[in-house]
Amino acid sequence: MVQKKWWQQSVVYQIYPRSFQDSNGDGIGDLQGIIQRLDYLEKLGIDAIWLSPVYQSPNDDNGYDISDYQSIMTEFGTMAEMDALITAAKKRKIRIIMDLVVNHTSDEHQWFVEARKSQENPYRDYYIWRDPVDGQAPNDLLSTFGGSAWQLDPVTNQYYLHLFSQRQPDLNWSNPLVQQEIWQMMNFWLEKGIGGFRMDVIDLIGKVPDQKITGNGPNLHAYLQKMNQETFGHYDVLTVGETWGATPEIAKLYSDPKRNELSMVFQFEHIGLDEIPGREKWDVQALDFLKLKAVFSKWQNSLGNEGWNSLFWNNHDLPRIISRWGNDSEMYRERSGKMLATILHLLKGTPYIYQGEEIGLINTPIRSIEEADDIETFNMYQERLQKGYTIQEIITSINQKGRDNARRPLPWDATNQGGFTTGKPWLPLHPDFLKLNVATALANPKSLFYHYQQLIHLRKTQPLVVWGTYREILPEDPALYVYERSYQGEMWLVVANFYQKETIYRDPERQAQAILLSNYEDSSLHLEKLRLRAYEAIVFRLA
Ligand code: GLC
Ligand code: CA
Repeated sequence: MVQKKWWQQSVVYQIYPRSFQDSNGDGIGDLQGIIQRLDYLEKLGIDAIWLSPVYQSPNDDNGYDISDYQSIMTEFGTMAEMDALITAAKKRKIRIIMDLVVNHTSDEHQWFVEARKSQENPYRDYYIWRDPVDGQAPNDLLSTFGGSAWQLDPVTNQYYLHLFSQRQPDLNWSNPLVQQEIWQMMNFWLEKGIGGFRMDVIDLIGKVPDQKITGNGPNLHAYLQKMNQETFGHYDVLTVGETWGATPEIAKLYSDPKRNELSMVFQFEHIGLDEIPGREKWDVQALDFLKLKAVFSKWQNSLGNEGWNSLFWNNHDLPRIISRWGNDSEMYRERSGKMLATILHLLKGTPYIYQGEEIGLINTPIRSIEEADDIETFNMYQERLQKGYTIQEIITSINQKGRDNARRPLPWDATNQGGFTTGKPWLPLHPDFLKLNVATALANPKSLFYHYQQLIHLRKTQPLVVWGTYREILPEDPALYVYERSYQGEMWLVVANFYQKETIYRDPERQAQAILLSNYEDSSLHLEKLRLRAYEAIVFRLA
């Protein structure tokens, strides 16, 4: 019998601290702000917070470029406030999951400052250095943020590797000293009583740059087993790896309990389903709905006892799901948001909610590049201009897929700057914040917020949601997503119309006993001929 873990029964809420709540009027969210809003998160019902990076950082990539893993970004607060946050959250039975960014550091990290001084420097081998080849970069590896992954450092005339920005040099994981430093740092955080780690691009740490292997390198799993042994394996914590290229087979390598690596991974197969294959994330086509269902079902069916699913639509790197695959018009914003939430939260796995998702935030289109903030967006803009794309084409891509969409400050109420700050927000809020804000959602018992609250409540009170088996029905239906969950003699049926157009579900075999949740007040119980209106999503208990 596999042991049941707290994180299998939990819902995690991701906070992007810069945009959550400012407490001192400088326009930047901070730790005090999070502490002030814990009651809100408790009301929603979540069990853990994944905190995007709060460490010391020059913010080339908004905190994913860390210059000191053991101190807090000055703008966000102090270590004492971090301790206070952990304690205040614990009082509400909320755990804090820290973001662990150890594929790379900032170029301002002391290790890199030292390393670049000379080839003999004791920190040199903390990073990945190569001689030029014929006066050029050692090979044609590319950075995720555009251009070569190699940067020539004039001080020593060698190149260093950066799979992200030039200011995010990759750590050399084959150096045992690097590993030691990281174990020590992780233990520092674990001793504070955190609830675990979300591991940034962890699939890259086993890279072999000379063979142009980046993801899933040969030593990746050995490193993670060592990490487990040396650090979190001694604690009851959640660990989730960000693994862009994971298939179910790969996911099991990380999360099979027998292998002592991670609790689970974020897989991204569903996330790429509106991208033109072989092109970049900016090149979008209509979502293939049949594939979306097939991907969900594949993951639901294949992990078994050798893994555990993470469930998410959103994070700080992805556009807002209602704008992406729902309908962000005023008429259907909440309705489609409830449908998307329903189908995701009743799957088996641990759901992750990204801040603002629970009130149905949508994308914020921009008109020109001056309104953007994100380094990935800026780099792509320059690159595509040079390739001859028109500005309009580029702006369209940014509005569909740019990361700023998710990173706008959270509007809390209809006051100046949505109650996010009393000053000037670091990035403007969504222009509709007077209507689209937390206070409005809380004041309306039928809002999306309470739908999320109910979904979380169902998970907390009904073991079927956590442990039940999954079976998809009608995988070929072009508009309906229908699945069963069963547990100890009980069976639920989720029926959702993914689109605006009305459609019919016919199921003469089954008998519904009750409606447990719906996004319409007058949904029908008649499965033999069930008419589903725009985005209607119903959860039945079967007789
Ligand atoms: C991950 C993060 C992303 C960051 C990148 C580099 O994908 O989620 O925000 O830019 O890693 O750290
Ligand atoms: Ca602040």
